[in-house]
Amino acid sequence: MPDSKKKFYISTPIYYPSASPHLGHAYCTTMCDVIARGKRLRGYDVFFVTGLDEHGQKIEKNAEAKGVTPQAFVDEVAKTFTSLWNAMEISNDDFIRTTEERHVSTVQKIFSRMLKQDDIYLSSYTGWYCVHEETFWTETQVEVEGGEHLCPECHRPVEKASEDAYFYRCTKYSDFLTDFFDTHPSFITPESRKNEMINTFIKPGLQDLCVSRTSFTWGVPVLEDPKHVVYVWLDALTNYITSLGYLQEDDSKFQEFWQDENTEIVHVIGADITRFHTIYWPMFLHSLDLREPNRVFVHGLLMMKDGKMSKSKGNAISAYPLIERYGVDAVRYYLVSEVPFGENGIFTPEQFVMRINQDLANNLGNLLNRTVSMIGKYFQGVVPAFEKNVNPTDKELEDLTALTITRYETLVDDLKVTEAYAEIMNLVSRANKYIEENAPWALAKDETKEKELRSVMAHLAHVLFVAGMLLKPILVHKSDAIFDQLGLGNDERHYDLVSDVHLLDDKVVHKGEQLFPRLDAEKEIEAIKVMMAAPKEKAAA
Ligand code: MSP
Repeated sequence: MPDSKKKFYISTPIYYPSASPHLGHAYCTTMCDVIARGKRLRGYDVFFVTGLDEHGQKIEKNAEAKGVTPQAFVDEVAKTFTSLWNAMEISNDDFIRTTEERHVSTVQKIFSRMLKQDDIYLSSYTGWYCVHEETFWTETQVEVEGGEHLCPECHRPVEKASEDAYFYRCTKYSDFLTDFFDTHPSFITPESRKNEMINTFIKPGLQDLCVSRTSFTWGVPVLEDPKHVVYVWLDALTNYITSLGYLQEDDSKFQEFWQDENTEIVHVIGADITRFHTIYWPMFLHSLDLREPNRVFVHGLLMMKDGKMSKSKGNAISAYPLIERYGVDAVRYYLVSEVPFGENGIFTPEQFVMRINQDLANNLGNLLNRTVSMIGKYFQGVVPAFEKNVNPTDKELEDLTALTITRYETLVDDLKVTEAYAEIMNLVSRANKYIEENAPWALAKDETKEKELRSVMAHLAHVLFVAGMLLKPILVHKSDAIFDQLGLGNDERHYDLVSDVHLLDDKVVHKGEQLFPRLDAEKEIEAIKVMMAAPKEKAAA
């Protein structure tokens, strides 16, 4: 497809390096990775970026508490993010840190331009400031409890702050935004988030946004007025274009992945930052005469039984002990399948073990094991040539296989990632049922049924290839183990071949290790509980 090669840009939020990442951060990054890998497999040109939001008062305070400079502090924490992404097999094309020169100098240019065109003006700000969320809240937004003012997001106490500050003129672009929402109905997914934005922020009338601070210094200095640093959201959001080289010497990636109207641009974020991505970000881009992203996808949270997973709460679970014990593919599979993309989910050891046992060991692993064993036993390991519609349920399985491929593509393109992968497991279950229906062990006893037996084996091998290929974005190692056992050469492991029912004709299967050994549920649940009681962080590599 060289000419029409589709382009796809996907980003995670840039995380605060206030502490090392937990499984919740791994959730969002893994979902984006699975989407990015899936698109690459299908021949798209993909740019997948993640990174760190390293400025702000909180980082400054954390560094001070540790007696190190903010830069030394973020450099250390950054290593814990990159080593986790390595361990999780994250295939990001870039890792942007907002303290990098390429980002800092571009933010300054952006600020200057906005100032020049009067999108930004100097005034003073008084409001309720939440240090943790790095957000100013208005009188109507803060929560009041027992006379104390609390942040509506994190419920920590907020402080009244007043200082000289630059403001971004949201009022100037509110018509643009309303229009943009009307003409781009699928910009915010899920739809409920869009309504929330309209009712909470747009309808009551947008207020100008504070974009500089003078009460701390850890930020991008405003060139025109250096006692100000750029306040965190103008700094943070622009990472999505500074990582592509916007206003830098080499802006080829920016031309390819942002300027080209045919590139699909998707930002994946948590609900807590929806306002910034769906209200301010489109306006900032409009100020710069740049296009808006196609989609902001708001995912749910991975929670613990006692609420949102967070370092400060002490209930966060680290991904490392899970990866070490069960392998990265199992952890990736759990994250994708257990928490429907767009909804919240709760991590429990019981569900973790159940997912692996039910889907990976019993369903997928078993299908592979049975198929390879039977081809070995009945056909000396050679996969019989595929023939359509021999047994009564062949057609149904053929149709479901073809349908699964198209459904998977449609669902994943619509970011219904969990549903897309559930389709594949459904096909695998159907294939296991197909074995029972056709009872190959009985066919093998009847010489007149050889054609039927051949057909059963060929169908099963094909389903395994399809499942292995569609699951490859999640099972980055085990999909190859499936292909190895099916006897497929490296040059045949291509997505384009997924509909080729004859690909496996005459291949020689190799029985290998069990794909996912069945876990002793009771023992493993206990082991995970121990991990949860003592979340162990891997030291920075
Ligand atoms: N730095 C800002 C984002 C700037 S983007 C231009 C920020 N950082 S954060 O470290 O707080 O991370 C926010 C994101 O991390 C959330 O939006 C969400 O995607 C992800 N998650 C953090 N905890 C999570 C869970 N417990 N579960 C799922 N995702 C989690 O806000």
